[in-house]
Amino acid sequence: MKLDKIYRTTKCFGVAKGAKIKGAFPYGFLNWVQVMGWCGQTRCYLCSGLVDDMAAVRVDIRKECNPTHCEDAKSTSLKSESVDWVIIDPPYTKILAQDYYKTEKHYHGINTYTKEAERICKKGGLILTLSYEIPKRIKNCNFIAVVGVYTIPFTGYMRCFTVSKKKKQLIEKGEEG
Ligand SMILES: C[S@@+](CC[C@H](N)C(=O)[O-])C[C@H]1O[C@@H](n2cnc3c(N)ncnc32)[C@H](O)[C@@H]1O
Repeated sequence: MKLDKIYRTTKCFGVAKGAKIKGAFPYGFLNWVQVMGWCGQTRCYLCSGLVDDMAAVRVDIRKECNPTHCEDAKSTSLKSESVDWVIIDPPYTKILAQDYYKTEKHYHGINTYTKEAERICKKGGLILTLSYEIPKRIKNCNFIAVVGVYTIPFTGYMRCFTVSKKKKQLIEKGEEG
């Protein structure tokens, strides 16, 4: 991994005031992601909550979030390589999953979700994560950005935001020297 090729910084946002869900994206976060060029035409939110992007595929386990796919984001019914941008914003701990969403039975670590994201993401597409957890390097992907995200007024811990790009040409098993 060539560190000098990875964009690294910290970034401060305002809290999403009046958000209808706990753990909503910080105020201005998705806009900043777009400004940074980390965007895609066909988008998918894994653990979508109440995100305001009706043109996108939205996967959430709770039907009250009105997702396009009401299912566990660990293993979705989406076709392989069907979207070119996937963002994962899961409950950050099992306790938060219980307290905020009552979804503790379906709690998974970030690496479970990145595995599914890699499956549904097209070659050359982007996979983004926002969590307390720092994901392992995703199969067939390279990190392009790692950002510490915090909010003012200060609300708890810093989150880790990562952007990974899926390689355009995948190395088949057995080809790696
Ligand atoms: C941090 S919130 C997402 C908030 C979203 N970014 C927003 O701004 O509205 C996490 C969401 O993950 C959902 N969730 C929890 N476990 C899940 C699972 N295994 N599969 C799919 N969704 C899950 C919860 O129902 C909750 O809506």
